[in-house]
Amino acid sequence: MAKVAIGIDIGGTGIKGSLVDVKNGELVGERLRVETPPGGRPDDIAEVVRELISVLDPKGEVDSIGICFPAVVQHGVTKSAANVSEEWINLDADKLFTQVIGKPVHLINDADAAGVAEMKFGVGKKVKGVVMMTTLGTGIGSALFVDGKLVPNTELGHIEIDGVDYESKAAFSAKEREELSWEQWATRLQTYYSKLESLFSPDLFIVGGGVSKEHEDFLPLLKLNTKIVPAKLRNSAGIIGAAMIGLKSSK
Ligand code: BGC
Repeated sequence: MAKVAIGIDIGGTGIKGSLVDVKNGELVGERLRVETPPGGRPDDIAEVVRELISVLDPKGEVDSIGICFPAVVQHGVTKSAANVSEEWINLDADKLFTQVIGKPVHLINDADAAGVAEMKFGVGKKVKGVVMMTTLGTGIGSALFVDGKLVPNTELGHIEIDGVDYESKAAFSAKEREELSWEQWATRLQTYYSKLESLFSPDLFIVGGGVSKEHEDFLPLLKLNTKIVPAKLRNSAGIIGAAMIGLKSSK
């Protein structure tokens, strides 16, 4: 029988959610998306998430709810805020969402959630050794796995190269903002992944985020010693990983 949990993926521009069959990692029914409220403030986001959940589960039957968020999330407390309001820094976000939603809710970093899903149901399945998942979107998220076990909150999007926080150069948002061609963007990705490779010697890089569906336009341009593959779950990985965490913490 399907075991269903709700997964919510909060991003700098949109908030996505779905019911998820956590046994096979598939979305159940429709995936919904709403705009992130301007300013990205905690109370406003919590209210939007509450509304989204009431549409996904109108009868309030689902008790497992997980949320992923684009910041360091240490034991339910958000510790950073790269692309959202600074009010998130040091906020007990588990508590805020649990209060607003009226059920236990657990938060996790968005890239960590995507990585957890990808390791269980996607291209990372059964892969041993050091796997590094990166998500290319508004920011760059990272999730590091050692023999399938997550080392949380690695924040490797903010690695400094030539004195700059490299997320500002190599995230997909930089490609859009600066209207870079695939080749121009790939040059920056080359710098970024070469750096990660030299620091971590991973066995596998997984590239997620919405743009990973266009992987043929940029991944073949990269020259690395490490195998680099697109994520399989694409844009739904965060939702699926969040739902998995929600299920775990509701047990
Ligand atoms: C944040 C990370 C997040 C990533 C992707 C970065 O700016 O610092 O916590 O995982 O963006 O959303």
